[in-house]
Parts: sequence; C-alpha cells; structure tokens
Amino acid sequence: MKTRTTRALRCSAPLVAAGLLLTACGSNGGSDSGQPAGNTSFEGRGPITYVAGKDTSGVVQKVIDRWNTLHPKEKVTFVQLPTDADSQRQQMIQNAETKSDAYTVLSLDVVWTSEFAAHQWIDRLPGQRFPLQDMLKPVVETAKYRGGLYAVPASSDGGLLYYRTDLLKKAGITRPPATWSQMTADCAKVKRLPGTEGMSCYAGQFQKYEGLTVNFAEAVNSAGGVVTDASGKPDVDTPSARKGLDFLVGALKDGTIPKEAVTYQEEDGRQAFQSGKLIFLRNWPYMYALAEKSKLAGKFTVAPLPGLNGPGSSSLGGHNLALSSFARNKATALDFMKFFSSQDSASTFLKDASLAPPYARSYDDASLVKRYPYLPDLKQSILHAVPRPRVVQYGDATSAIQQEAYAALTGAKSGAQALKDLQSALQKSTAQ
Ligand code: GLC
Repeated sequence: MKTRTTRALRCSAPLVAAGLLLTACGSNGGSDSGQPAGNTSFEGRGPITYVAGKDTSGVVQKVIDRWNTLHPKEKVTFVQLPTDADSQRQQMIQNAETKSDAYTVLSLDVVWTSEFAAHQWIDRLPGQRFPLQDMLKPVVETAKYRGGLYAVPASSDGGLLYYRTDLLKKAGITRPPATWSQMTADCAKVKRLPGTEGMSCYAGQFQKYEGLTVNFAEAVNSAGGVVTDASGKPDVDTPSARKGLDFLVGALKDGTIPKEAVTYQEEDGRQAFQSGKLIFLRNWPYMYALAEKSKLAGKFTVAPLPGLNGPGSSSLGGHNLALSSFARNKATALDFMKFFSSQDSASTFLKDASLAPPYARSYDDASLVKRYPYLPDLKQSILHAVPRPRVVQYGDATSAIQQEAYAALTGAKSGAQALKDLQSALQKSTAQ
C-alpha cells in the first residue's frame, strides 16, 4: 500500500490544461466506465454513515429518512461536520489517517478528489453503476483522478450575484450590473434613497478559508487573469490578476465592501444580506431557497457575477460522494450513493434547498425553470466555470492562496507583494 501511495503522489506533475493544474501521469488503465477500483470488492451490508458539512437547509436528513424507511437493515446515520470546507477536509483526513471505519460515504468538495484518491483514502468506483452520461461534463470531471472515477457528483455549485431588486428598481436601475464599476455606480444611486444609509454595496466570502480561495480566484479570472496558466503552471503575478485583486482591496478600503466582510463565510454574508445590510452579495445557489423564506422574499433575485470589463466568471464548486477506503458495508454504501445522487434526489435538493443539480436536463425543465428562473444562467455559469487547481497537494495550494489574499485584503501586504509571494508559494506546492 505504501509503495502504491508513493507512486501515485509522484505522478502529480502538472499537465497542460485550460488554465488549471491537472494531476496526472498518463492513464493507468483506470476507466470510469468499466472496472471497479483495483482489488476493491464492494461487499457487506448493514448500517453506514454519511458524512458532510452542516446541513443548513434540513433537506439532507429528509432524503436519508427516505432511504432509511426503504432499508431498515441498512440505515444511514448522518454525521454533520462544521460548515467550513477546511474543517471538513481536516476531519475527513484525520479519519482516513487513523484508518477509522467511522465514516462511510463522504461528501467531498470537488477540489479534494485528487488528494483523497492519490492517498488511497477513497475507493475507485465502478462508473457503470451511475448515470454519469446524464450529468454536466465539467461536473463529472471533478470526480475523476488519473482517468478513474473516484466519486459521484451529488450537487454542483456556481457563484451568483444576489441583489436587491426592490432597491435597484426604486433607484431607476432596470438591469443588474455586468461589471464591477456598474455595480459600484448602482450602489451610489441606491445609497441616495432614504433609509439606505447603513447599507454596504457588496460582499462575498473573505474570511481566511476555502471561500476566500474561491472569491480570490473569481476576482482574478473575472479580470482576465489566471491562477495557473494554459500550461498548468502558476501564473498569478500578472497585471490582469493584479486588477482582480485590486478590485477587492480597493473596495474594502473605500467601504464598497464592509470591513467586517473579512470575517464572512457563506452564512455570515447571507445573514447580512437578509438583514438588509447589503445591496449585492456573491454567494452560491443554496442561499436562494433560504432567502426566499426570509423577510427579503420577493425583494431579491440573482444574476451572473460581474467582472472588470464584462460578465465575470465563477469558480466551479460542488460536492461529490466518495467511499472511504476504510469503511465497512460497501455494498450498502454503493447503493446509497446511487440513491443519493439520483435524478430524484437531485430534484428534491433543488426544489427544497435550491442546490445546483449535476443533471443537465434539470436546467431545461420548464417547471423547474418556472420555480427558479435563474437555472439557464446557472447552467452557463457552471459550464464555463473555472476549476480551482486540481493538485494532490491541494491543502498547500489553497492555504497559500488564502494567506496571501488575506494579507492583501487586510492591508498587511501590498497587492503586488502578495501576488509575488503567492506565485512563488504556488510554484513550490505544485513542483512535485
Ligand atoms: C461551496 C462549494 C465548494 C467550495 C465552498 C467554499 O460549498 O460547493 O466547492 O469549496 O463553498 O466555501
């Protein structure tokens, strides 16, 4: 096992891809359509666990209850981890490093596939068991490592610009902003309305955690820059990337983004928006259903993210189901993964909790589009989203991004210095 792990890790040289780092060293014969993982036999039936970040909407337990009613001898217990992605990753790694069987099916953030697969913390899966051909292609790609399938998409994610339709309308603005400068100009108009004195223009997720990696990458990409270049190498110390970072730094300095936003994760921003403190907010689709139940119902909607000279681009988010290598009852686990990632479950996740489905046809379904008019925009956002670096050493790469972006946002470093330091840190963490 040790030998295999070492070889897999050595095979993590960057590969040419459109602006992203792929970890690969040729095909090892692994395929997502035929063979199950190595010698893994998916045996054993009985109780299992499903491990994921805190369920803010309550819909996960509802779907698990459905399974449990149908499978009283193979019950699934929902283990909820903290809301932030970094803590979830740490706890899952801890479970794997101790080879514990406490976690069976893992809800893996799309950016962790390479790391978990290369360390053999998760099993390679028999692709033919899942309807992958019905899913959006970039979403399925996030579940692969070295040509093999290591997870099954359960939900996708693309960034959206939430905004106050009531206030924009009152200020005479008829369409949402496509650029950052239009957004700040719109805010200036809204702020002339009575009762908006305490409001800030914009926020995203700027606390030092995975959400900051996302928001930084989106700002860089939306200004025409890249975190990694077309040959897969870090290329973040550029004038375009600087323009993206400068937008965030400048907006924090002049109050367009409120100072406290450097403490915001997704849920903090949602609370701020729902309590009327923000005109615009970058967040994921999950917030839509929750905000509809708040006092802002009917007063907001979403638009594609704005950018420097035109529409911006989103980072590709989402969660895939993976099977812990150290789990028991793997036959039950595979069946549960199929159930939980099915079109039926995805519809429940969308209807009840506005989670982005992995299935292509959901985005064109008239009744769903009626319920969530932004679905066609979201589909485009996901299809054109930029993946974060796909590296085995993802933990190192994301913590370098978080550290340097945070230093620039809080004024501890100039933007220029932060990008220079980030470039060399990324070169180190990907040069293996
Ligand atoms: C969402 C996304 C995930 C991302 C995280 C960052 O959960 O689905 O991909 O890493 O937010 O906070």
